[in-house]
Amino acid sequence: MNDEIRLMPLGEALDRARKLAGELEHRFGGELAAATTEIELRAAHAKVKSGFKAVFDAMKGGRKDLMQSAGELVNASRDRLSTTFQTRLLEISDATTLADLRARPFDLTLPARLPFGSSRGHAHPILQVRDELLEIFRDLGFQSVSGPEIELEKNNFTKLAFPPDHPATDMQDTFWLGPGLLLRTHTSNVQAREMSTRKPPMAIVSAGAVYRRDDDVTHSPMFHQLECFLVDEHVSFAELKGVLSAFAARLFGPGTAVRFRPSYFPFVEPGAEVDVGCPFCSDTDTTRAACRVCKGTGWIEIGGSGMIHPDVFRQCGLDPDQLTGFAFGMGIDRMAMIKYGIPNIRTMFENDPRFLAQF
Ligand code: PHE
Repeated sequence: MNDEIRLMPLGEALDRARKLAGELEHRFGGELAAATTEIELRAAHAKVKSGFKAVFDAMKGGRKDLMQSAGELVNASRDRLSTTFQTRLLEISDATTLADLRARPFDLTLPARLPFGSSRGHAHPILQVRDELLEIFRDLGFQSVSGPEIELEKNNFTKLAFPPDHPATDMQDTFWLGPGLLLRTHTSNVQAREMSTRKPPMAIVSAGAVYRRDDDVTHSPMFHQLECFLVDEHVSFAELKGVLSAFAARLFGPGTAVRFRPSYFPFVEPGAEVDVGCPFCSDTDTTRAACRVCKGTGWIEIGGSGMIHPDVFRQCGLDPDQLTGFAFGMGIDRMAMIKYGIPNIRTMFENDPRFLAQF
């Protein structure tokens, strides 16, 4: 019967198309409205499509004016159903979300429960100690700069007067990335860089990660150092001692002793290891013998130091007859371990939140 539409006179055809479209609209409108799930709704919508396709098929091939006016009529019905479908789809999805939220056994308005007790994240303990140390040196007048971890052999060794066959340059000790390129083994590369590019006087502090082939309870292949140096005319060892004493007093308390033990680094002369008096025990109250930090010695080693070697000045294009300077370097991880009583350096880099949340 639908087939006849295309053969009908215009008026009759329009009536017929209107009737069919009205029937479809009524039937499917009811089905769409009755659907309660998205699946039901989409099934009803699929029927709408095929129902209207049948009506269009019945008109196809008929007169042009018939196609136009009847088509418009049928299209309007189909568009209304499409709107009904969209509206119903939103209603169903809102209802589903609401039902889902109501079914959940928790109150969405409660504040979040955080897993490790602290309400916010914070800087890693090593970075906290680094910043504390940097602040002390900045207050003493040193400018803080950063240096690269991937470094040229020239800046890490050569300009610092390491002979080519020095054991530190060995494959066993250094992570070589290629000929002349390595992971810096100390922050002293910043000395080479700054002295080669700046005009003295300069007072510089720099902190960051360094790398060595070393791995045990107190050594990690990646660790952190802080480097401090000053270059000017007439700089003496007394100033080195003064800066380190001021530093120790600020970090460990007024009157903390500083002592130097002769030592060797190719880039300083004279060179010395720096110890500070152990702030955790004292001879007078007899806690010293059992002190685990200084192992009963009363001294904690914090780093290396010395007066910048004339060869280093020369290698960096500065005049050793005019200039002198001091330099020292210390291990930041070691300071953090001392400060917090952490026996194993590796716990610092495992990033277990139960450990980190304690700082
Ligand atoms: N760069 C040395 C090290 O890593 C430390 C140091 C720095 C020594 C500056 C003297 C002067 O052990």
